[in-house]
Amino acid sequence: MASGCKIGPSILNSDLANLGAKCLQMLDSGADYLHLDVMDGHFVPNITFGHPVVESLRKQLGQDPFFDMHMMVSKPEQWVKPMAVAEANQYTFHLEATENPGTLIKDIRENGMKVGLAIKPGTSVQYLAPWANQLGMTLVMTVEPGFGEQKFMEDMMPKVHWLRTQFPSLDIEGDGGVGSDTVHKCAEAGANMTVSGSAIMRSEDPRSVINLLRNICSEAAQKRSLDLSLIHI
Ligand code: DX5
Ligand code: ZN
Repeated sequence: MASGCKIGPSILNSDLANLGAKCLQMLDSGADYLHLDVMDGHFVPNITFGHPVVESLRKQLGQDPFFDMHMMVSKPEQWVKPMAVAEANQYTFHLEATENPGTLIKDIRENGMKVGLAIKPGTSVQYLAPWANQLGMTLVMTVEPGFGEQKFMEDMMPKVHWLRTQFPSLDIEGDGGVGSDTVHKCAEAGANMTVSGSAIMRSEDPRSVINLLRNICSEAAQKRSLDLSLIHI
């Protein structure tokens, strides 16, 4: 089975002038990992940060935190080595951004990182299938990538459900517009990893939001496996 429910705050909409402190706050508040959104102004119409910032974060936060790099960039091949040197843990690239996913997957692995593969809302989930067995995680975008604080796209849930059915042990991450009112939809469809940006960042009490998201996700996952076991009776 996929690993349990994990919550990865996205720091995109946090106070970027205090990024290190914000990341520490998330970890102290119970974040399971950090979801770091890299945007290059080409693949998406927004710019954030790159490997130098990741390197600085690693120095400040130490070896323990898991960095899930969400690479919203046009040339994902270009940043594998620099992100590995910056000690990123997982390199999640977009299927739409490369002609050669197989070569890129191999390169990421050879550089010692886990592989994540993401699809935008307009991309059919079937295109992920040929690569699924080589992945640590798939990311199903539930907004158009580029900005935080957008509305959750519920019509992406069949993609998550399809992936969960086809690949029971795959880690599946939902990203975009996920908060306490939408996380159950992702989890019921089969996602076990939840990215949440503004819902956590805008809260006065991030710890309780993270806990709530994890609890809702776990309950939905338990219900789903119960439903599945009933089917097999
Ligand atoms: C959007 C990013 C998301 C986003 C999440 O392109 O990939 O990670 O920042 O933020 P919310 O939860 O506010 O949609
Ligand atoms: Zn993201």
